[in-house]
Amino acid sequence: MIAKVWGNSKIRGEVSIGGAKNAALPILVASILSSKRIEILRIPDLADVREMISMLRALGVDVSFENNSISMLSTNLNSDISAFPSKIRASILLLGPLALKTGKAKISYPGGCSIGKRPIDIHLDGLRKLGFDVSVGEEFVEAVPIHRYKQVDIRLGFPSVGATEHLMTTASMMRGTETRLLNCAREPEIVDLQRFLNSMGARISGAGTSKICITGVSQFLSARYEVIGDRIEAGTYAIATMASGGKLVIKGVTPSTLNFVGVLQKIGGIISIKDDSMCIKASDLKSIKVFTAPYPGFPTDLQPQITVLACKAKGISEISEKIFENRLGHVEELRKMGAILDVAGQTIRVKGPQVLHGARVVGKDLRETAAITIASAIANGTSEIENFEILFRGYEKVVEKLNKIGVRIATS
Ligand code: UD1
Repeated sequence: MIAKVWGNSKIRGEVSIGGAKNAALPILVASILSSKRIEILRIPDLADVREMISMLRALGVDVSFENNSISMLSTNLNSDISAFPSKIRASILLLGPLALKTGKAKISYPGGCSIGKRPIDIHLDGLRKLGFDVSVGEEFVEAVPIHRYKQVDIRLGFPSVGATEHLMTTASMMRGTETRLLNCAREPEIVDLQRFLNSMGARISGAGTSKICITGVSQFLSARYEVIGDRIEAGTYAIATMASGGKLVIKGVTPSTLNFVGVLQKIGGIISIKDDSMCIKASDLKSIKVFTAPYPGFPTDLQPQITVLACKAKGISEISEKIFENRLGHVEELRKMGAILDVAGQTIRVKGPQVLHGARVVGKDLRETAAITIASAIANGTSEIENFEILFRGYEKVVEKLNKIGVRIATS
């Protein structure tokens, strides 16, 4: 799909953000622990969510998805869905929970954005420590629960978001086992997952800190749960607004989760937050030195977008990617639009302000495509973005929302 974007936009008005993709995906997986009906509200209608729903259906879960709400019932699950290609990385989260539910799980090797090697060693080491026999083939991963220990301590080699969620969800269903996860990721989506699991009857504490304690239980109840707002979607619209010199009210945010606000204020964002609404406008944009880090650090999922903002800021900015080894694909595309960017290792150096011009560019990864869409919206002239549909993996109704706030965009 190609999107045509008319440049020189000034973003204005109001936009509502959806439920967090990165909370919705692990919550959907965790729902299979219960054999009772589960209802989840504020599920964003995204390609990645639809992909997860397809995987759940392949497992035999009865899922209905309407008006951003999911109702599901997980009884009689299949243990082997290795024939089903998993296009999203979050599919790995199914391995432990499914193995516990069915006695054995086999899934295809997880896919996802091409932003580096993205190994799953921390997930698999953790499952082994929890007592699973794990084997990895060319195209599949298999897990069988073998031992049930009384007490398990697992120190994660890196605070991986997915591994923290996977091990926390799996351990929550291991009755008789007390698990302590150390060096956990502290992302708000993990706190949301804990809240959801506990609402189904799990006994977990500590999410949001680096130590999570889990007392395994055997039975889960029915639950009705609403997902938090998507902080990355909010951050993307906030950055786009600042880059365009506009003013925007972003509705539906979860204020405690917005770990990008301080960085945007340093660049010159004037931000006020009241209840679930955030108002943002830009004053003179100043250069910034920023590096991505696990939460509460600056999110890697906003790194490509902030590179575009740095192009408009006065002075020399430095943006360093510290989480993924291959997440600078936007640099090549922004150069096609006239950006002058120096790259040394994982650091981008930008001297601003720079004038960008419209060009034909290519979307490769979700957040990189968000960045080139922002760049196209503020450039002089029109741009064409190939593979624009990648954006539908993480941005709900993005074309409608952009048109509503003053970015003229059409897809063909
Ligand atoms: C999640 C988010 C993604 C975000 C990322 C980092 C979801 C669905 N996706 O992805 O949007 O960009 O967190 O904030 O929530 N690693 C290993 N071995 C492992 C697991 C991870 O080496 O077993 C490495 C990865 O290659 C990467 C780093 O750890 O370099 C962070 O990955 P991780 O936190 O696991 O990211 P995801 O959970 O995949």
